[in-house]
Amino acid sequence: MQKQILFVCLGNICRSPLAEAIFKHQIAKRGLGDKYLADSCGTSNFHIGDRPDPRAIRNARQHEVEINHVGRQISINDFLEFDLILAMDHSNYQYASDLSGKAPLAKAELKLIRSFDPDAFGLQDVPDPWYGSEQGFEEVFQMLWRSCDELINQLEKGKAMVKKAEKLSETSL
Ligand code: 4NP
Repeated sequence: MQKQILFVCLGNICRSPLAEAIFKHQIAKRGLGDKYLADSCGTSNFHIGDRPDPRAIRNARQHEVEINHVGRQISINDFLEFDLILAMDHSNYQYASDLSGKAPLAKAELKLIRSFDPDAFGLQDVPDPWYGSEQGFEEVFQMLWRSCDELINQLEKGKAMVKKAEKLSETSL
């Protein structure tokens, strides 16, 4: 069974499509393309149907990563379909967490993407590069590259997610 991973930001035109593209690029390079399915979405409806920001596309291309995505908004169904939902910042996390409360049968586990970044101290955000410069996109790329690399390491070791049985025993304590 493929593990399904969903990356979430606000607009779904900068950070999360970049994370999705980096993740797909890295699993392909490791020969793991068949084991995982990745997608991305936004918490807002601002960019439904839109292509990623041209600065994100340019930045990714400089690293030989191709972004291929059309903007969409997160829905309750995502918590039923995906195994792991990775938020770019605390605000996206809170929105997704509130939404998951409406999906009692949710299987998805929700985490911050930078909980996998070996260079992050504590639970840090991926900053929104939308209002900033091209340099901001490069910084975001580097954070996401490191985070996805370690995420794949953890997924392959079976350590990226708490198993359902462990969750049940935690809640019954
Ligand atoms: P993202 O960046 O959440 O990384 O896709 C943004 C893109 C657009 C907007 C906000 C953030 N916006 O307000 O339209």
